[in-house]
Amino acid sequence: MTLKREIKMTKTIAIVNQKGGVAKTTTALALGHGLAASGKKILLIDFDPQGSLTTFLGYDTSDVPTAIEWLGVQRKHVAAFDDVVLNVNANLDLIPSDISLEEAPGYLYSKPGGHGYLLAVISEIKDRYDYVIIDTSPSLNILTINALVAADELIVPFKPEVGSVKGISLLLDTIRDVRALNRSIRIAGFVVVMADKRRKQALKENVDYIQGVARENGTKVYNSMIRASASATRLTKEDLFTRGTAASDDYAAFVQEYLKGENKQ
Ligand SMILES: Nc1ncnc2c1ncn2[C@@H]1O[C@H](COP(=O)(O)OP(=O)(O)OP(=O)(O)O)[C@@H](O)[C@H]1O
Ligand SMILES: [Mg+2]
Repeated sequence: MTLKREIKMTKTIAIVNQKGGVAKTTTALALGHGLAASGKKILLIDFDPQGSLTTFLGYDTSDVPTAIEWLGVQRKHVAAFDDVVLNVNANLDLIPSDISLEEAPGYLYSKPGGHGYLLAVISEIKDRYDYVIIDTSPSLNILTINALVAADELIVPFKPEVGSVKGISLLLDTIRDVRALNRSIRIAGFVVVMADKRRKQALKENVDYIQGVARENGTKVYNSMIRASASATRLTKEDLFTRGTAASDDYAAFVQEYLKGENKQ
């Protein structure tokens, strides 16, 4: 008798944009939370030495091992996945990070295959989850390259303002270069974040621009735009998860749109 094994198709999504403060962490969390709420098993990986995702979720890492220990970077104590992962809720887990992750790039740059460490450790535990979501730092350094190498697809938050337009081509060049290491990498889409709908003309111009970029690169801009929540310069977890703020409503619509795309594939 042949044993039939159910193969779970886990998808790894990296949230990337080397521009700072464009809602990468907020988008990673909102997507993770939304997919978890719809019954999917989610692993969030905080892969930013700023540790914003970790602190946003309310964790203090002073006494616990973090992503750098999981990666197995020399001179650091190496920890197993189960010793590092934090259980946020029934469907949502987190690999936390903090400033100690700053030690990783020096080590990774010195190693042949240093771009593949994150992929290697994710591969070991991937089948426990439906989605692995990686939050990256505002940089295109080797940590972000590790995320790009590990990812099946990318979601790029785009803040519709002039400064955002400039960095996109650099990001696209980097993604193109990473294709040599990860042939299947694809941009799932751009998501317009922090949109100020009162500034209609500027918004339209920037959204038109990003739609052109998306078309040229064989991808799309999600219909669900995330409005800037006027009430909050710093959104809290509660704003994002429970309250009817503009951003939380918009992210809920974005997650539904994302899932609809998944069902079509
Ligand atoms: N839709 C929104 N409305 C209002 N504030 C927002 C919105 N989205 C994110 N913010 C706020 O903007 C700030 C930057 O967001 P976030 O930390 O998610 O960006 P980031 O791209 O991860 O930043 P970094 O590049 O530093 O990692 C945060 O204070 C966040 O609470
Ligand atoms: Mg961030």
